[in-house]
Amino acid sequence: MSNDPLLQPYKLKHLALRNRIMITSHEPAYAVDGMPKELYRAYHVERARAGVALTMTAGSAVVSKDSVPGFNNIHVYKDEVVRWSRDLTDAIHEHGAAVMIQITHLGRRTRWDAEHWLPIVSPSHEQEPAHRAFPKKIEDWDIERIISDYADAAERMQAGGMDGIEVQASGHLLDQFWSPLTNELDSPYGGCLENRLRFTFDVLKAIRRRVGTEFIVGIRYTGDERLPGGLDKNEGIAISHRLKDSGLIDFLNVVRGHIDTDAGLTDLIPIQGMANSPHLDFAGEIRAATNFPTFHAAKIPDVATARFAIASGKVDMVGMTRAHIADPHIVRKIVEKREDDIRPCVGANYCLDRIYQGGAAYCIHNPATGRETSQPHTIERAATRKKVVIVGAGPGGLEAARVCAERGHHVVVFEAANQPGGQLRLTAQSPRRQEMISIIDWRMSQCEKLGVVFHFNNWAEADVVLAEKPEVVIVATGGYPHTEVLSQGNDLVASSWDIISGDVKPGMNVLVFDDAGDHAGLQAAEILATAGARVEVMTPHRSFAPEVMSMNLVPYMRSMQKLNVAFTVTYRLSKVERDGNQLVASVGSDYGDVQQTRIVDQVVINHGTRPLDDLYFELKPSSSNHGENSHDALIDGRPQSIVRNPEGAFQLFRIGDAVAARNTHAAIYDGLRLAKAI
Ligand SMILES: Cc1cc2nc3c(=O)[nH]c(=O)nc-3n(C[C@H](O)[C@H](O)[C@H](O)COP(=O)(O)O)c2cc1C
Ligand code: SF4
Repeated sequence: MSNDPLLQPYKLKHLALRNRIMITSHEPAYAVDGMPKELYRAYHVERARAGVALTMTAGSAVVSKDSVPGFNNIHVYKDEVVRWSRDLTDAIHEHGAAVMIQITHLGRRTRWDAEHWLPIVSPSHEQEPAHRAFPKKIEDWDIERIISDYADAAERMQAGGMDGIEVQASGHLLDQFWSPLTNELDSPYGGCLENRLRFTFDVLKAIRRRVGTEFIVGIRYTGDERLPGGLDKNEGIAISHRLKDSGLIDFLNVVRGHIDTDAGLTDLIPIQGMANSPHLDFAGEIRAATNFPTFHAAKIPDVATARFAIASGKVDMVGMTRAHIADPHIVRKIVEKREDDIRPCVGANYCLDRIYQGGAAYCIHNPATGRETSQPHTIERAATRKKVVIVGAGPGGLEAARVCAERGHHVVVFEAANQPGGQLRLTAQSPRRQEMISIIDWRMSQCEKLGVVFHFNNWAEADVVLAEKPEVVIVATGGYPHTEVLSQGNDLVASSWDIISGDVKPGMNVLVFDDAGDHAGLQAAEILATAGARVEVMTPHRSFAPEVMSMNLVPYMRSMQKLNVAFTVTYRLSKVERDGNQLVASVGSDYGDVQQTRIVDQVVINHGTRPLDDLYFELKPSSSNHGENSHDALIDGRPQSIVRNPEGAFQLFRIGDAVAARNTHAAIYDGLRLAKAI
């Protein structure tokens, strides 16, 4: 038996867990009609099959109708959930993993304008900033109703075959009672700590009455709100003791911080550029103080840190949640001593940010996650070996190269630059976004192991490509920044990429016009402001940087607010003229007839990219398919078989930004689904 601390079994009450790695609850928003159906099951089964010990399904599965699902949460208030839950738990158990579910009432952490349009409730009328909705102040009959809803939900989940449940306190209704900042009730549910905890213990007692003493019940909670006037660490430790001493629960799953604002949430669940494992010591303190089963997750992305978390005795079970979104096969790779093959979570938070915008959780660089019913995490070998030439070693090109090589093809990659990465290498120039380069590094190391041949510093012309006698050519040449949006003065502006790459020196007084709204605009603005420039970021849209999304915006704002960057929404830059050594920028608006000017010394435009597609169009006439790919075949995962030119000796495809400006996930998804069928 292995002596790896991570691979040691753990006994939670009667439940044997096969190792110390868990996936903490996270709602990936894959439910259909509020039920965990086929995709939900396939997603968890993939991870169970690869060896994770415990998967905490759902996240915030809602126990009541007035806990309005904010991100396609599972409806555990419906009886119908039992049958879907049974299918889910049976399938997971078949692969030796334990499975539980997190249930909750969101309280004010949601909105009222969805589902049943019921008023939301909380122990005060105060809104949660992140959701903005104003709650009803909870009444005695609401409290009774919700206690009973919790018990009903727990009973359903027991009937659904779960090994246990976790009630979510942190930031949700239970914790809204705990925190003096959100509880304005009088006795018996408001006032002293004992009163503020009363609702939680009433809920736990009702659950126990329903599910008995054997069923596993745990709680996820913050042990320190880190907010002036909120619950502090001393109270957190006191609460931990009370929870343990109550005899009502079997484990503590501790977090640190608050989630009522985007900034708070981002400190609790740190993203790229923020420290790893920031709350692990704190979790260790709770475990040391209580000597009770303690679980914890917060940016423990790598095996070494997870191993330390267990070996040092800070926690009993270590959560590697986003790490498993990025690579479902972590445990198998540890067991097989292939840790180098683990696809790293780069903390991009595309997964989490998407669910807050109503989307499903997708990983920025694992497009098979959340698509387990149609996309493979493990690539099958092809029946026939082909010669594949790929032009461009950005994320899309490298994914295509990796997947083609896994298929057993002979793969040659040409790249004009002296190293791989494309736009991602520029992105990773910002210290905060350095982790992005692992998207490239992981693919390069996989490609090298698989024998892919690379030619760097090689601007492949058609004759170079054809000299390879390819059977398939994939053009993944990416794009170049496009800035020609002005009626006059296009030659006077720089692009966001010029600033990020350092090709153009920052000015002193700069207008950044950003109508793409993605990272590049903010990244350029931050570089400019850090270099000492006075910066105004202008967008014609009603909010700035909409593609950056909520948690990703937090580090930018922390940095740029200190640097006094100004943000102007709903104005459009129309032209730029030179006046001596200054530039005069004319500004209008899509909303009406407005005319303003700005006098600056530099104008930077972020307007996405245009495809670098010369090679594609050069090769198109001699290809067998004239570059056409069948959307149906692509979607269905079938080989491409269009023939437009029977004389053509090779199939031609293009992917990623070489087609149209999109994002890293789209480029990699293009690469995977095209290459897996070659
Ligand atoms: C897509 C997504 C949804 C999440 N939803 C929940 C949730 O509903 N309830 C919860 O307690 N935590 C939720 N989390 C937080 C995770 O449980 C975990 O605490 C967090 O991701 C930090 O751990 P990690 O760095 O290992 O990912 C979510 C995380 C992700 C990525
Ligand atoms: S999107 Fe980013 S944070 Fe989320 S799992 Fe993928 S790499 Fe990790």
